[in-house]
Amino acid sequence: MKISIIGAGYVGLVSGICLADKGNQVVCVDVDRGKVDKINKGEAPIHEDGLGALLTKHVGKNFRASADLHEAVLQTELTMIAVGTPFDGRDIDLGYIRQASQDIGEALAEKPDYHVVVVKSTVVPGTTEGVVRETLERASGKSAGDDFGLGMNPEFLTEGVAIRDFMNPDRIVLGGIDERTLDALRAVYAGFESTPILETNPSTAELIKYTSNALLATMISFSNEIAGLAAKVGGIDTSEVMHAVHLSEYLSLDVDGHRKKAKITSFLNPGCGFGGSCLPKDTKALAAQGESLGAPMRLLEQVIEVNLGQPQKMLELLRQFLPDLEGKTVGVLGLAFKEGTDDMRESPAVPIVEALASCGARVVVFDPVAMPAAQPLLPDDTTYAEDLASVIGTADALLLVTRWDEFLELPSLMRELGREDVPLVDGRRFIDKHAIRNYSGIGL
Ligand code: NAD
Ligand code: UGA
Repeated sequence: MKISIIGAGYVGLVSGICLADKGNQVVCVDVDRGKVDKINKGEAPIHEDGLGALLTKHVGKNFRASADLHEAVLQTELTMIAVGTPFDGRDIDLGYIRQASQDIGEALAEKPDYHVVVVKSTVVPGTTEGVVRETLERASGKSAGDDFGLGMNPEFLTEGVAIRDFMNPDRIVLGGIDERTLDALRAVYAGFESTPILETNPSTAELIKYTSNALLATMISFSNEIAGLAAKVGGIDTSEVMHAVHLSEYLSLDVDGHRKKAKITSFLNPGCGFGGSCLPKDTKALAAQGESLGAPMRLLEQVIEVNLGQPQKMLELLRQFLPDLEGKTVGVLGLAFKEGTDDMRESPAVPIVEALASCGARVVVFDPVAMPAAQPLLPDDTTYAEDLASVIGTADALLLVTRWDEFLELPSLMRELGREDVPLVDGRRFIDKHAIRNYSGIGL
């Protein structure tokens, strides 16, 4: 199928290149010409495992990027909208969605053939059949259902392993206003026979996406609330508590005589808080929609509130070792909101570094890939270390924020450098607590 995708970011570019790999003819459109040029040279604009190889394989063949949305819509049969949907402080910001819908609608006005428009961005329930439909119909002078199809196909990929997730999805959700739209969507996903496919209406598809993310966020804040209590009681390690909870028959299975934890348990761990481009903004957007519709979401509001407090917990733990941070050198290990990505959006590392700096500490940071992306977001006097060893060599204390595999060598490296007394506050409970002499962590 000939497919155009509006927005060549994490979702648009990954979906586009994977659908090209499945044999479709794909053009990804972006307003950012620098990104378009880079992609057309076969260079990945983001850090994602496997993306570079797929670009090399398909660019110039059945995949290209373009800044010309109009032409891309006219030359394809189906258009996916994958632009950003940030939170504007009060509500979901549908500005990019409106603009993309307007531009697609103007192109449709000139297109005699039937075309299908599919929203892939995460949008609050009602958006596809509301704002998107109205904008497309007004700009095109055409009618959804009669002249063009309209659908919603949420994306569930996870950053860092986005290509793997897109190619091996756990589910595919197709929301369509009619059978003809669903037929087109079935054709797009024809190469994913072994995946459960759920067909529904657009609003249900939209709520499925939010409910999935809200559940993950709720589990994280729930674990952090338990960790907060355990720390006050004393003598309890929340990691131990959670490990036992995970082993319940509700959360694990016996496989070949071994107890195997369900993957969801990876969201039931204490830590310095969830970040990223989705969980924070999606929980806020859903809670805001609930409030505006007279269905306030008190539980979700508290999930957000608990999360906001987690970065500060890192400083409280640090003060056990360094009561006065003035003039002290503190090493922050990991800046990206999670491992495997250079994405800094809503990373807990930002409030942590800011809080350290405001207490007068000299902050030295290290992240294997996210330092360039972090630089514009961190205080000017932050020091960027070349490697892990140089942070260990200079720091009075270390804070671990991201679960990068290279940090697992921390205990041996500290010993090698004769720095085994340096305290570590583990914000992800990633390092064995017995392997570090002065260890503390969330939930301990
Ligand atoms: P992103 O910011 O990485 O990419 C969005 C891209 O759209 C940018 O490159 C921007 O320049 C481009 N753009 C904006 N307006 C445009 C327009 N009018 N025409 C052409 N291009 C335009 O965003 P993302 O992380 O890919 O997220 C996109 C959507 O997918 C969001 O709704 C997000 O919630 C959802 N989502 C993201 C992920 C993820 O892991 N990042 C996973 C699932 C769903
Ligand atoms: C999340 C979901 O996992 C995806 O299914 C979804 O498609 C995506 O959002 C989206 O809608 O964009 P992502 O944001 O890439 O994916 O990353 P996650 O692995 O979910 O991690 C989110 C945050 O939660 C990270 O900051 C991570 O460190 C944190 N986290 C995770 C915790 O704080 N505690 C945990 O126990 C697990």
